[in-house]
Amino acid sequence: MSEPLVLGIETSCDETAVGVVRGRKLLANVIASSVEEHARFGGVVPEVASRAHLEAMQPTIMRALQESKIELSDLDAIAVTAGPGLVGALLVGVSSANALALALDKPLYGVNHLASHVAVDLLTHTQEFRPSIALLVSGGHSSILKVSDLASEIESLGQTLDDAAGEAFDKIARVLGLGFPGGPIIDSEAKGGDREAINFPRGLSLPKDMAEHAFDFSFSGLKTAVSRYLTANSNYKRADVAASFQEAVVDVLLIKSIKACVDTGIDSLIIAGGVAANSRLRELAATRCKAAGIELRTPPPALCTDNGAMVAALGSLALSKGLAPSSLGIAAASDTPPTQPLWA
Ligand code: KG4
Ligand code: ZN
Repeated sequence: MSEPLVLGIETSCDETAVGVVRGRKLLANVIASSVEEHARFGGVVPEVASRAHLEAMQPTIMRALQESKIELSDLDAIAVTAGPGLVGALLVGVSSANALALALDKPLYGVNHLASHVAVDLLTHTQEFRPSIALLVSGGHSSILKVSDLASEIESLGQTLDDAAGEAFDKIARVLGLGFPGGPIIDSEAKGGDREAINFPRGLSLPKDMAEHAFDFSFSGLKTAVSRYLTANSNYKRADVAASFQEAVVDVLLIKSIKACVDTGIDSLIIAGGVAANSRLRELAATRCKAAGIELRTPPPALCTDNGAMVAALGSLALSKGLAPSSLGIAAASDTPPTQPLWA
């Protein structure tokens, strides 16, 4: 087969997203987000998200086909996020993908949302994939993964014991009165602040914690420290708090990711997931990786947050490796570890 043409559907949270790839080439990446409907609640409301997916699904598929200048009948496979995520939201994408695969008589690949965040690397780095450490940081997950093969061999080295990194950004943005989602807002607020103004704690980074939790994260102590600081300093400078908080998160993410590279002898680091769009994380990662002789691979910011292209990329990889498609009628699963990239 020439390079496979794959359509990917992503509906695990509040983005109805459809991407089209040919092999490792991105042809279309269309996103309809319901984020504004959730903003006043300060977080994603599952039922609101599911309804928005139902309305947006078909028009988003049509736009992706138009953008990539292809017909449904040209496709070689359909890929869809089957988990983890909000079950009602996932179900909309999974049902649509099942229907398309059945009607077109094409193979269906149910893919893991977390693995596909990492697999988006395929679309931006054209050289052969090589074993990498992946720092996966999103609104629901924070893990350090050893990725030997994107479609079949992902090992978890550590993960957060409490909040995800993105969740910490969202919660701190809320206490600072900055709106939702908090990551991008803190990122821009921090640009006007002093990141050394306040020395917030770096969770699980003391020698005694590193012995047991070298690759695990904890953001609860940091959250408490920020809240205490705000209570004790009523005339605090918001930009300084944002910058110092962001620095604490980014610092600890990178300390542990680089240690994972050094300890495993793997000199390639992929940073993926919504938080990978963070400008300070990208900047500091570039400096530290260069100093440590590690190749840094970060997708462009638009491919870090949830999208359909990453789903199509993992589906396309599975098809080109000749892996068996998923069975038709696969179920959505809310909680699936990143170590299971594809559905049976
Ligand atoms: O991967 P993603 O789009 O959705 C999930 O799978 O969760 O990640 C969303 C998370 C949110 O918590 C959001 O605040 C965070 O990514 N995020 C950022 C930035 N852009 C998005 N966090 C820090 N800096 C950013 N620039
Ligand atoms: Zn995500």
